[in-house]
Amino acid sequence: MNILVLGSGGREHTFAYKLAQSKRCKNLFVAPGNAGTAAIATNIDISVTNFETIKNCVVDNNIEMVVVGPEDPLVQGIADYFAETSELKNVKLIGPSKRGALLEGSKQRAKEFMMQHKIPTAAYESFTVQSLEAGKAFLEQLNPPYVLKADGLAAGKGVLILNNLNEAKQELENMLSHNKFGEASSKVVIEEFLDGIELSVFVLTDGKNYKILPTAKDYKRIGEGDTGLNTGGMGAISPVPFADEVLMQKIEDRIVKPTIDGLAKENIDYKGFVFIGLIKVNNEPYVIEYNVRMGDPETEVVLPRIKTDLADLFEATFNQNLNDISIEIDTKAAATVMLVSGGYPEGYEKGKEITGLKNVKDSIVFHAGTKMEDDKILTNGGRVIAITSLDEDYKKALKKSYQNIEKLSFDRMNYRSDIGFDL
Ligand code: AMP
Ligand code: GLY
Repeated sequence: MNILVLGSGGREHTFAYKLAQSKRCKNLFVAPGNAGTAAIATNIDISVTNFETIKNCVVDNNIEMVVVGPEDPLVQGIADYFAETSELKNVKLIGPSKRGALLEGSKQRAKEFMMQHKIPTAAYESFTVQSLEAGKAFLEQLNPPYVLKADGLAAGKGVLILNNLNEAKQELENMLSHNKFGEASSKVVIEEFLDGIELSVFVLTDGKNYKILPTAKDYKRIGEGDTGLNTGGMGAISPVPFADEVLMQKIEDRIVKPTIDGLAKENIDYKGFVFIGLIKVNNEPYVIEYNVRMGDPETEVVLPRIKTDLADLFEATFNQNLNDISIEIDTKAAATVMLVSGGYPEGYEKGKEITGLKNVKDSIVFHAGTKMEDDKILTNGGRVIAITSLDEDYKKALKKSYQNIEKLSFDRMNYRSDIGFDL
């Protein structure tokens, strides 16, 4: 069948890389894609939120399966658009309906869902500009650090963690009264701070059945030792060494099952990924957030470990018979290191030539912000390239990635040399 992947990051290059290996895949398209996807698929220069143009592209190219990478089109209802459009309703779209995507699109909705289905998470209250004073009073009752979350999508920047009460009150006011994160912070969730170590669990569900995919841990801060500003993610490893059987059983029983059952009970169409951000506090798992898509760069370590044909898994997801298919996971560990533009996550320049890519051996190069110009590959974003390696354990895998990074260069290339430092 012909398959379209929507998105342009390292995550989407990884989807394309796996789908290109599928015996089920005839022609592969990526929209809009990057220089990496251009080498294995046909890039189509359309926006992931322009549903009308996507429809034309699907019809014109006889596309039978669409894999949605980022959250924006999901939150805007691309799955509903496909289900309601006669030419598209049989297209196997992988991604939840708009109601499902609200688990990521609204922090308050996610918290209410967790309360409703008794899923362990931090205690919280939510506030609007009308209840600003009540919000400040609520902060006074809490112990620092204070966790403030913009309700809506804020490109991963909407969470503030503050040690000082007055600063927390001021930021609450900035969010509610001064649109710090635009419309996204017209409502703010204030949450109890959980002190522990984070990990992520990925689930593929057809709305009734589910498969738990490999765990991963990402490194969000720009600086070594988890310091400095938050980024989209500077590296990741899979599996997470401390996610042992006992912890995973608790996660499945207390979090994964109630989440999937909760979606079914609420009659939510959900055929796609649930990315559960967790924190382990005294060996007990709590949910920090839901995302309704795969993580980036977590995808770059999770998918290379899945041996089962990805198109088969997606087809079973769409047909709601995920229980009839088994999933085989590589026992090897995977690690990825993200190369970023100097200055990122603040201002940075684009258009720098990337050299040395052909010299990489024994690692996989996943492109993120790159583009082709003539026969050169240029930087085209903050996160540029993820170098993934597989080996017996994550340390050996990381060593391979770092050895290959030595061969690569572009002006002001930056990366973290301490991925996995805390394990
Ligand atoms: P989120 O966008 O919800 O994933 O939050 C971003 C980051 O803030 C998370 O990855 C955590 O590191 C941190 N965080 C969010 N909520 C909490 C919490 N209740 N306690 C401690 N850290 C948190
Ligand atoms: N790496 C975190 C995310 O994709 O949200």
